Amino acid sequence: MLPSKQRAALLSACLTLAVAGTGLIMSTTASAAATRYEAEGASATCDGFIESNHTGYSGTGFCNANNAVGAAAQFTVTASAAGQATLAIRYANGGTANRPADIFVNGAVAHAGAPFDLTGAWATWVTKTLTVSVNAGSNNIRLSPTTANGLPNIDYLDFEANGVSPSPSASSSPPPGRPAECTGTSPIRCNFAVSPGNYTVTAWIGDRASAGNTSMSVEARRRILPAVSTAAGTITQYVFTINVRQPEGQPTGQGGTGTPGLQFTFAGSAPKLSGLTVQPASNPLVVYLAGDSTTCDQMIAPYTGWGQLLTTHVKAGAVIANYADSGESSGSFLNNSALFPTMRPLIKTNDLVLIQFGHNDKQTSASTFRSNLTSMINQVRGRGGIPVLVTPPVRRQFNGSQLTPTALHVNGVGVNLPAEMRNLGSSLNVPVIDLTAKSEALVESMGPTNSAQLYLRESVDGVTDNTHFSEYGAGRMADLVVQGIRERNLSLVAYLR
Ligand code: GCU
Ligand code: CA
Repeated sequence: MLPSKQRAALLSACLTLAVAGTGLIMSTTASAAATRYEAEGASATCDGFIESNHTGYSGTGFCNANNAVGAAAQFTVTASAAGQATLAIRYANGGTANRPADIFVNGAVAHAGAPFDLTGAWATWVTKTLTVSVNAGSNNIRLSPTTANGLPNIDYLDFEANGVSPSPSASSSPPPGRPAECTGTSPIRCNFAVSPGNYTVTAWIGDRASAGNTSMSVEARRRILPAVSTAAGTITQYVFTINVRQPEGQPTGQGGTGTPGLQFTFAGSAPKLSGLTVQPASNPLVVYLAGDSTTCDQMIAPYTGWGQLLTTHVKAGAVIANYADSGESSGSFLNNSALFPTMRPLIKTNDLVLIQFGHNDKQTSASTFRSNLTSMINQVRGRGGIPVLVTPPVRRQFNGSQLTPTALHVNGVGVNLPAEMRNLGSSLNVPVIDLTAKSEALVESMGPTNSAQLYLRESVDGVTDNTHFSEYGAGRMADLVVQGIRERNLSLVAYLR
């Protein structure tokens, strides 16, 4: 069956507008209405069966893929031009758990472990929307489940390419050209001499004359934009809010103190930059991170904290300020003058403070752990901020197919640290993101062998470490934190890309 044009959206044929949800300001001229690709259609494949036993589907049925990791639904879609595109995936999940899937575009993961939450019944269909970047012409979109439950039932994919700009002059403000602060070609590095604080950064990515593939990172390996492809003549304007601290990585300077000011790295296979401006940001929502080495801005690869990837999920108006530091326990973070005492006075009304400890509370008693966390919670509230407890991500230590108590942060004196955090959350009315449970489900579903890629491996990273994450693993943890932010409906939801 050929894809049919969906006529629902009344889109102007010539308008150029901000795309609010993505951090992408714009670069489009006309975007056509989305094209619908039915999961049972000729442009799709289903690693399972096309069925029609639950009502409410569109077309003649839906894909019920096998309940297994990697049992995919795949679509071949056509993009009118390269750039950003919107995927609207209609699905039903009448099971008992979220069914996350990696969303691959042309073989590369565009969204790792994207959640497909329960819809309540197999006949209840909802649409999940994601933004990806695509090539002009044919693209392969694959939904590949990461757990043994497999995919939800998939009805269709509505696909719309909207990153199209036939000429740079179509941008909301014309690209000012690469500033003097930038040098090099691959990567392009830029250095702005600004004081610590929060900045609105506008980047024009792409080039008038040649095609590009450009990613953007700032400061200590903080990823802001995964690599995006742009056709020759396409320049896309992005706006983000960026936090500058000194030192730029870990607050105690472990791993290096970096360079004062704001540094950018534009990498990718062919980085193209047609403008970059930096201005002070007025009153963004700040999300502070208080945590340990699994969260922090690690200066030195391959070590990567989930806070360094959380930044890819946040659009302008909100900013991540990562005060996490390697080796810290609930008590040392509270008392070290570079850590909680430095962060606390910066907290403004309604700022969020995500608090994750456990890895280094190996000998902490239950009462001390509770009183350290309670002190942080009360002090954050004293500033008008909103504390959020994040239980620690698991270590990769298996006994058979299950994680050990040590992996799950039952500490050396028998305290179940995540359980203490859950209980404290309910007694003090603090939202809890249960990253222990979420990462346990992920690591156990991947199994003892496959889960190694989440952590550091001798063969790839030159070091074996089953506590600290690879960039891939940190990205998966950041995705789980984002899932928790949505579940707890924290104010950051309005700023998620
Ligand atoms: C049920 C349901 C299917 C669904 C399956 C699943 O069998 O009828 O439509 O795909 O559960 O759990 O995946
Ligand atoms: Ca810096």
